[in-house]
Amino acid sequence: MTKMSSACRAEVIRMSDAPIGVFDSGVGGLSVLREIRSLLPSEELLYVADSGAAPYGDRSEAFIRDRVGAIADFLVGMGAKMLVVACNTATAVAVELLRSRLAVPVVAMEPAVKPAVTLSRSGIIGVLATSRTLASERFARLAELFGDGVEIILQPCPGFVEQVERGDTDSAETYSLVKQHVSPLIEKGADTLVLGCTHYPFLLDVIKEVAGPGVTVLDASLPVARQVQRRLQQEGLLSRRQSPGTERFWTSGEPNLVEPVISKLWGKKVRVEALPAPYAVPRDVKAS
Ligand code: DGL
Repeated sequence: MTKMSSACRAEVIRMSDAPIGVFDSGVGGLSVLREIRSLLPSEELLYVADSGAAPYGDRSEAFIRDRVGAIADFLVGMGAKMLVVACNTATAVAVELLRSRLAVPVVAMEPAVKPAVTLSRSGIIGVLATSRTLASERFARLAELFGDGVEIILQPCPGFVEQVERGDTDSAETYSLVKQHVSPLIEKGADTLVLGCTHYPFLLDVIKEVAGPGVTVLDASLPVARQVQRRLQQEGLLSRRQSPGTERFWTSGEPNLVEPVISKLWGKKVRVEALPAPYAVPRDVKAS
């Protein structure tokens, strides 16, 4: 084993205390952030909600790649030791680019198709995600790899992201939107549903109510948080701090509109800062 020089050891120790950068097209990635927080209580966490550009599902691939690049630059500039792409759509479009550009480890989303195939008794599983995720080559590869012998029904869910971005996770309008997209899957015999978008776990109660008691609903937030823990361990980057870590939040949307939504979904009052101008969404395409 080669001996680490003391300068090198000091660098590793310093890096291990650096924050983890997490981002999504909006508030959905908080479903991943909360699992990271519960597994890694002493890590410093930075979160960017690109709410000014959400939903990514409606944007061009070039636009998504530009946004992902800008946010990654911001988080790395803030000293992030690792990036977590807490967005399936951004993962599908831009993860290879990100990995080729960045020196820090990048952990990204993968819809829970593999465990769903193992769990399903009917051999019919439903995958709920954005059209862009479902149409991606990355998803096609996943379905081909693990979907042998099962029927995978693809279900885009327009409107789900917008409801969660408004913090509306349980109104009558949300219920009827969920019913519209979930009931057809149950009628076709799906007994396992995969939530392939990080916003959807915030609709879990409604999805379960619509799907009924015999249906298993899976999402990848906990497996991704475990992967974050594993990668940090492998790279010698786990925080050595004993004290509880803190979180900082930014948005490319209007902080005074996004702050109450993040506070609601995060479960406590937090401050949300405006993403600095060089990383903001260009004015002519800003949505909120
Ligand atoms: N949370 C994003 C995902 O996981 C939502 C995508 C969007 O903004 O359309 O795909």
